[in-house]
Amino acid sequence: MIQRIRGTNDVLGDDAQAYAALEATSRRILERAGYARIETPTFEATELFARGVGASTDIVQKEMYTISEDGITLRPEGTAPVCRAYLEHGMHKLPQPVKLWYLSSFFRRERPQKGRYRQFWQVGLEAIGSDDPAVDAEAILLLAELLEAVNARGLRLRLSSLGTPATRAEYRAELQRYLRANEDALSEEVRNRIDLNPLRAFDADHPGTRRVMEGAPLLLDRLSAEDREHFEAVKGMLDAAGIAYEIDPTLVRGLDYYTRTVFEFTSDALGAQSGVGGGGRYDGLIEEIGGPHTPGMGWAAGVERMLLASQAPATAPPPLTLYVGYAKPEYRADAFRLAADARRAGHTARVELGGRSVKGQAKQADRAGALYLAMLGDEGVSLRDMQTGEQRDVEPDTVMHHIRGNIL
Ligand code: HAM
Repeated sequence: MIQRIRGTNDVLGDDAQAYAALEATSRRILERAGYARIETPTFEATELFARGVGASTDIVQKEMYTISEDGITLRPEGTAPVCRAYLEHGMHKLPQPVKLWYLSSFFRRERPQKGRYRQFWQVGLEAIGSDDPAVDAEAILLLAELLEAVNARGLRLRLSSLGTPATRAEYRAELQRYLRANEDALSEEVRNRIDLNPLRAFDADHPGTRRVMEGAPLLLDRLSAEDREHFEAVKGMLDAAGIAYEIDPTLVRGLDYYTRTVFEFTSDALGAQSGVGGGGRYDGLIEEIGGPHTPGMGWAAGVERMLLASQAPATAPPPLTLYVGYAKPEYRADAFRLAADARRAGHTARVELGGRSVKGQAKQADRAGALYLAMLGDEGVSLRDMQTGEQRDVEPDTVMHHIRGNIL
């Protein structure tokens, strides 16, 4: 038997209901704040991610699903594609910032485990074209609201600032000097990455490396006056909104495009994959992919992880008003039409599709939780109230009238 690929999921039953409810909640919260929906293609030029996400990241180095002959890659994330669309559609001509949200699936060739999949879903937003710290604070607030609305448990918000690329470059050199001076105590992996990605040393579990990192210089202490001011403004607005956060100067995110604000929500209801959602500012990304200097800010949250972290009850589908059956095959077309008419009039209605006996149809209507069963036969329509068992013959075109008036 052919089975689904490891690290992918079928979404069905209660999960499908939960996904739909999460989409509705996201739409309500984000559109109320002026974010408009965007959907970009499932694959893009490989170059977009190589340049946008960054050549030294794990994502680009080992996690992308790339079809080399065509130069295309299944999207591992949504920010670079949204920035590409912003440029391609001349959105700089619109009032800034342009605020967009998405709910899409993404692809990363990671080792599958609970909460980590090779195809996964994200709700995300991007606000492009303003470096106002209010954009940062509002974006963070919206994710906090979404996580609260889905009842995500055990949340923590970690916050930091990475400054500008210039500050980062200077700091990076300082950190590299520090790591080299302590090279003997570092893990081999960290040692090998001193040139490529020294910041990742803060992520290491290796005890020797961790000890070295405790004394390492922190980027947060090296921010320029402007960047510090920006960060203070973001914090001030979060304070005003009553959002609790922890400053974590070692917060590193797995993507290269971040500048200034970075943040991440984790949930202790999740296992090892505790990151529910995160993001930050990316003031250099649009330039990196060939556009003019344009600031941006956004986040994405994993749908599977939000649902794992939440205790949202399964939402029930709407109750079935009418089940339409037929006593003889010659009434099948009429039954079909009656169900279609009822739906067109805004009711939930189903027609018998399994060729069951009259008894079997009554049983099926009961199993489906139908409030009424309309059985088409030689005598016209026999309409039964499934709760009381009451039954009477009615004219075919008065069925909905009887149901609406509840006059059986
Ligand atoms: P990210 O941190 O790579 O950021 O992913 C955001 C969220 O997607 C994570 O917190 C996690 O919940 C979920 N996620 C990531 N990888 C997986 C996986 N393999 N399986 C299940 N869930 C996963 C970004 O993608 C950035 N584009 C966020 C952003 C938007 N930054 C600025 N704008």
